[in-house]
Amino acid sequence: MEMIFALDKSIVILLNFTFEMINRKNRLQPRDRRGFFLNDVISLDHFDRKSILKLFKETKKLKKIKGKKLLKILSGKLAALVFFEPSTRTFSSNSAAFKRLGGQTIEHQNPASTSSSVKGESIEDMARMFEQYCDVIVVRHPVIGTLERIAGAANVPVINAGDGIGEHPTQALLDMFTIWEKFGKLTGLKGLMAGDMLNGRTVHSLIRGLSIFPGNTVYLLSPKQLCLSREEFRLYSKRGVKLIEIDSLNQIPEDCHFWYWTRVQKERFKDKKVYEKLKLSFILTKKLVKERAGKDTLLMHPLPRVGEIETAVDSDQRAVYLTTEARNGMYVRMALFKLILKG
Ligand code: NCD
Repeated sequence: MEMIFALDKSIVILLNFTFEMINRKNRLQPRDRRGFFLNDVISLDHFDRKSILKLFKETKKLKKIKGKKLLKILSGKLAALVFFEPSTRTFSSNSAAFKRLGGQTIEHQNPASTSSSVKGESIEDMARMFEQYCDVIVVRHPVIGTLERIAGAANVPVINAGDGIGEHPTQALLDMFTIWEKFGKLTGLKGLMAGDMLNGRTVHSLIRGLSIFPGNTVYLLSPKQLCLSREEFRLYSKRGVKLIEIDSLNQIPEDCHFWYWTRVQKERFKDKKVYEKLKLSFILTKKLVKERAGKDTLLMHPLPRVGEIETAVDSDQRAVYLTTEARNGMYVRMALFKLILKG
């Protein structure tokens, strides 16, 4: 009797272990690319043309809702915002988006010094805790690849709000929405990206996003030390987006649909002297806009800017970085939360 009982117990343990392993394995499977419902957003590679356009149509609908009305779509839902790196826009627009849809948030800024990660708790355990309390987890982390680990551990959707020099998919989506809203298309575009191609995660996601649509050409303006890694250059070029590297303002082509200026990413430099040397290699000035921009060229920047765009450019009607582009961040995130949590 005792023997049977002991056997039963070990079978139960074995079965539990097997279920746990299957469950873990399923969590680690790449999720359906097309569907939003309960899916993670770790990379722009999770999207295809259909899903991007679906998101943008939803965004447009939400943007039309008059004023800044509070909706009830996510009432009763809770989002965890866990930011291991500083943030102004991504943090607050995620928070605003979730709250405007009627949901609530648990907010951790700087968890590296305020959460149990100080005591040595693993990122996986942390993710599994938030999963107990929340319906979605939004994380920013300095180490590339950490978001995959979190998504693998958590059984609720995880959104990448920037992983080191990796990606920043929701920023790229709001940038693409801003372009789409202006030109009504995401194909056959000619754009310029300037600044830090090597370390800029927004650039990496935006190139991936533009490579999903046919006929796009992007000029990449950076000092040689900050050009895309050769692996990334080859990877993106294979996908169909035409990438042309340039290293002087004179090579900027005429009539671009957009200029996407970026900050040289100080925090990624081991040698701050190198950063000092490179930080203002290319400055967007009023003079440059006059000489090289088209009459409809969108002047964009994910922000923050630290000197690489002259403030005199801000009042140009083509400059959207402090206005439409930033505002769209909230609407795109609203649409994303809605599609992820409500389908
Ligand atoms: C960007 C980021 O954090 O990658 N900012 C943002 O989220 N809007 C760009 C940057 O910090 O340069």
